Amino acid sequence: MANKLPGEVREVPGDRSQYFRDLLNRFESGGTSYRAHFDGPGRCPVFQSMDGVYVTDVDGNVYLETFGAYAASCLGYRPKELIAEVEDQINSLMHVADMPNPPRALLAQELVSIAPGELGQGKVQFEIGGGGAVDLALKLAEYYTPHPQHDIISFFGGYHGRTIGSVSVAANVYNRERVPSISAQVVRVPYPYCYRCLFEKEYPACDMFCTRYLAKLFESPEFGLYDPKTGTNLVSTLIVEPTQFHSGGIVPPKEFYPRLRELCDKYGIVFVDDEIAIGIGRSGYWFACEAFDTVPDVIVTSKALSGGIWPLSAVIARREIFAVWDERPDKHMGTWHGDPVGCRAALTVIREIKERNLLERCRMLGGYFLEGLKELQTRHRLVGEVSGIGLGLSMELVKDRRTKEPAADATVAVITEALRRGVLICRAAYYGNRMTFMPPYVITREEIDTILRVLDESLSIVERGL
Ligand SMILES: Cc1ncc(COP(=O)(O)O)c(C=O)c1O
Repeated sequence: MANKLPGEVREVPGDRSQYFRDLLNRFESGGTSYRAHFDGPGRCPVFQSMDGVYVTDVDGNVYLETFGAYAASCLGYRPKELIAEVEDQINSLMHVADMPNPPRALLAQELVSIAPGELGQGKVQFEIGGGGAVDLALKLAEYYTPHPQHDIISFFGGYHGRTIGSVSVAANVYNRERVPSISAQVVRVPYPYCYRCLFEKEYPACDMFCTRYLAKLFESPEFGLYDPKTGTNLVSTLIVEPTQFHSGGIVPPKEFYPRLRELCDKYGIVFVDDEIAIGIGRSGYWFACEAFDTVPDVIVTSKALSGGIWPLSAVIARREIFAVWDERPDKHMGTWHGDPVGCRAALTVIREIKERNLLERCRMLGGYFLEGLKELQTRHRLVGEVSGIGLGLSMELVKDRRTKEPAADATVAVITEALRRGVLICRAAYYGNRMTFMPPYVITREEIDTILRVLDESLSIVERGL
């Protein structure tokens, strides 16, 4: 089989990919995520190399990857600036086991300096992955709020990771199945997925009924969270994503975050903003909460933070919140926390975003990409909704625009056609019928055009077969 470029049809997986897939099937656990990718077990190619927004499989086929390695590769794949800085770091100080080091100090300062509002006088603590940082944030919020505040509010469709703490505060039943429980009560409430409002309301006429419903839960002790007579409050933390990427790129209305802020202020609840997927510039702002004019109490960030070269995450919180650990060292540690290599990578990512004006680029190219998706919506009956903020975008497929019946099989078919044409698309959503796009910030208009062209072709092929 000749090597193929994006746009050209190839067999997936090729022979060499299949060889490695067979090895993985024999020797690696079946519980890994790539086994669910593209169209289920077996289809995911095995990758060999990468460059820019492209990855090449072991059979030599080139793919345009549209989800930035789960939003982490913000500067593209193998960016030379990042490699040079990390190489320099490795040649002086490598792993020092959660010890102080210069990149760690400089990055803490830098993260606080790009954080919005009062968080700009806040503090930082490092972790490795997203789930671990969410655990840290939940622990911190629990310390900060007085007894008996212990419960956690989270949202349907939320994704916060797969550690026991982070998965417990999410909703997804498959992900939570057989997870040993945490002791906090988790109260899950609807996220404003307005295209499929659970309350069957229409935005904006609804006046954000979902946030009004949440506020109602504090009006009587019979709702289980708060007693207005005695002021007994059982809730310590509210954790939420500014846009839900694992659930299909759901972008809430602009009022959502400010309403949550009001509620948290009223009841002394710690507002934890999970920006792991969208933070560090993707939204066109350093943090997407800024797009919603809201300053949370805690921001959790990872993925793009270290540009896909070294695992790193961080929790940024108001100074007075971290103060609860001022006299309690070693409340949260990890062998790899504050690793100089990861911190040096993050300093480079932030520098590059500033020097290359990538926030503006995310806004501009995101707008261009969104227009392209909207144009496809006008011509393809399968497309029910498109949405986006900066370079975080999505498309939902439905069998019928009137009934909005989810078209999950058609979504798999479109993704498979795109995969065969060398465009890798990530499937997500409550009903498995959305595609999310989170490309590196350095993607070009021409590359977006290629994605749109392949998507157009793939939608046409699938629609013809319906
Ligand atoms: C919003 C959000 N929170 C948390 C996580 C978990 O991060 P990790 O996979 O690094 O544990 C993710 C991962 O996709 C995410 O998108």
